[in-house]
Amino acid sequence: MNSTFEVVEFELWRPTNTLLEQDIRGLADLLHDCVHAGASVSFILPFTREEAAAFWRNKVLPAVQDGTCRVILARRDEQIVGTVQVDLATPPNQPHRGEIKKLLVHPTARRHGIARGLMIAIEEQARAAQRTLLTLDTASAAAEHLYASLGYVRLGVIPRFSLRPDASALEATTVMYKELSPAS
Ligand SMILES: CC(C)(COP(=O)(O)OP(=O)(O)OC[C@H]1O[C@@H](n2cnc3c(N)ncnc32)[C@H](O)[C@@H]1OP(=O)(O)O)[C@@H](O)C(=O)NCCC(=O)NCCS
Repeated sequence: MNSTFEVVEFELWRPTNTLLEQDIRGLADLLHDCVHAGASVSFILPFTREEAAAFWRNKVLPAVQDGTCRVILARRDEQIVGTVQVDLATPPNQPHRGEIKKLLVHPTARRHGIARGLMIAIEEQARAAQRTLLTLDTASAAAEHLYASLGYVRLGVIPRFSLRPDASALEATTVMYKELSPAS
């Protein structure tokens, strides 16, 4: 990590009553700012902070609370500057698989190894949840570089998969997977 950068801490999100609203606000700001900077992560402009907060509150939080999703937060000076999640809500015949989702690093915090740190932390969580196969798809060349450097295998590209955030055109997604050694 760049030496001029403040210390970044990676932690499993354990929503507590006292910090919940602050965390939702921090995650909403992160998602909002990433989408407005061009991240292709499900959402289309216009995209408000309230819509971003509703995503974390209504979709992610219940899954975290019922144990079907684990979320890693990267904090710098108590601000959330990055996140990633593993979705464990797989069908009964895929108890060994997890889906990596919503890898986000704030535009002002990029190229300091935060995404790499997030991925290492989420893989630890996946292993702890007995997941030995991780799957994902990405429309981002930068993310694809990162995943490949971490050992994810590139399966192929689905053309015209989703709309760009500004809805100007359809774009492709790259499908990847990684097999993990089981937790010892
Ligand atoms: C993709 C993203 C998460 C990378 O975050 P980051 O913290 O800047 O990444 P890191 O600093 O950990 O970089 C790790 C590796 O990713 C690759 N990478 C990151 N940004 C890159 C860029 N702009 N161009 C090319 N490769 C890039 C490099 O291989 C890099 O390794 P290196 O620095 O040793 O060369 C960030 O740009 C982001 O949030 N983008 C928008 C959201 C998104 O597309 N998420 C992916 C969803 S699947």
